[in-house]
Amino acid sequence: MSKIYLDNGSTSFPKAPGVGKAMADFIEKVGVNIGRGGYEEAYSAAEVVLDTREKLCRLFHFDRPENVIFQSGITAAMNVLLKGLLKPGDRVLTTSMEHNAVMRPLRQLEESGVEVVLIPCRGDGTLDFEALIDLATPGTRAMVMTHASNMCGTVMPVKEVAEYCQTLGIWTIVDCAQTAGILPIDMEDWGVDAIAFAGHKGLLGPQGIGGFLITDDLAAEVDPLLSGGTGSISHLETVPEFLPDRFEPGTQNLPGIFGLHAALTYLEQTGIDAIREHEMACTARLLEGLSRLKGIRIVGRTQLTGRTAVVSVEFLHMDNADAAFLLEDKYGIMTRCGLHCAPRAHMTVGTFPQGTVRFAPGRETTAAEIDAAIAAVKEILGEN
Ligand SMILES: Cc1ncc(COP(=O)(O)O)c(C=O)c1O
Repeated sequence: MSKIYLDNGSTSFPKAPGVGKAMADFIEKVGVNIGRGGYEEAYSAAEVVLDTREKLCRLFHFDRPENVIFQSGITAAMNVLLKGLLKPGDRVLTTSMEHNAVMRPLRQLEESGVEVVLIPCRGDGTLDFEALIDLATPGTRAMVMTHASNMCGTVMPVKEVAEYCQTLGIWTIVDCAQTAGILPIDMEDWGVDAIAFAGHKGLLGPQGIGGFLITDDLAAEVDPLLSGGTGSISHLETVPEFLPDRFEPGTQNLPGIFGLHAALTYLEQTGIDAIREHEMACTARLLEGLSRLKGIRIVGRTQLTGRTAVVSVEFLHMDNADAAFLLEDKYGIMTRCGLHCAPRAHMTVGTFPQGTVRFAPGRETTAAEIDAAIAAVKEILGEN
C-alpha cells in the first residue's frame, strides 16, 4: 500500500531538495565549529550561518541579521522570549487559539505571579478584536499570539493587533510556526517586536532548528534564559550584551542551520506564493469533498479565505482516533488526531476533549491523493 502524507501541519515532508545533502555534507566534509577556531573552514562555515540569518531577514522583512537568534524551534524560542521578558506582576495577553509552546510557558509564569489574560476567539477560531480592545489595558507588558492556528488553520489579524498594541506600548510576539514559508510575513511593516519560526514546517528544513527575530528595543528587555560560552569576549565571565551572542550560548546546531540554508535557497528560487497556491488548491479540493459528507463537521473556517492548508474535521458518530487509525491502517493516509497540543483551541471551537482529525496537505500533495483521502473518509463513514 502506498502511503499518503497529510500531516504537514506537524512537520513538512518531503523536505526541500538539497536539505539532506547539505546536512550530510556538513557532517562529512566540514564538521567544524564556528566562532571558536581561527582557520579557513571555521570562517567559511560562519559565512553560511550569516547567510542563513540574511535569508531569514529577507523572508520576514527585517534588516538586522544579527538579531536572528537560532534556537531548536518555536518551543525554545518562546521559552527564551517569555521567561526572559515577563516578571511577577506583569500582565500578558494571548489568544484562546494557542499551541502549548505558548500556553505552557505562560502557565508556568502565571505560577510565579504573571497575570495571563486570554482573548476569546470565535467558534471558527477568528480573533474577537473588540475583546482585545477591552482587555489591552495600558501597562500590559506583551501580547503573544499565533499567526495561524495549527489546529484548524484560521489566520489571525497580526498586523492589526500589532498596530493596536503599539499604540499602547505593548510588545507583540508572534508564533509563526504555521505560516513561515507559507504566508507573507513583514515584521517591519506590521510593527511586530519578535517573531518565532520553526525550520521544519513551511520552511521545508530539518527538525531541531528554528529561532526568533527580535527588535533591538525588545531584546534589551529580555534577560537571557541560558548563559555560557559564545566564543566572543572570552576574557569576561558575564553574558555578552550584543546579538546574537546574548541569546546563543553553546555550540549551535550547525547541521540544522546548513539544512535550513538549503531549504531557504530553495524557497527563494521557487517563491513561497507558488507553494502556497498549490497547497490552497489542495485545500479547496479537500474542503469541497469533505463538506459533502454528513458524518463529519469541518472545524474552523469552511471557506478558503483567512486560512492555511490545515483542515480539521470532527467525526460525529465515531471516535476520531478510530477514524485516524482506519485512515492509516486501511488506506495508508497519515493524519494527526487528538488535541494537536492546543487544548484551548479545541475548547474554542467546541471539540474538547474529543479532538479532531487533521488533514494538512503540503507542497507535494497531489489532487489524486486528496481524492483518495475524501473517498476513504466517505467509505469509513459508510456514505454513498
Ligand atoms: C502553532 C505552533 N506553535 C508552536 C509549535 C512548536 O514548534 P517547535 O516544534 O518548533 O517547537 C508548533 C508545532 O507543532 C505549532 O504548530
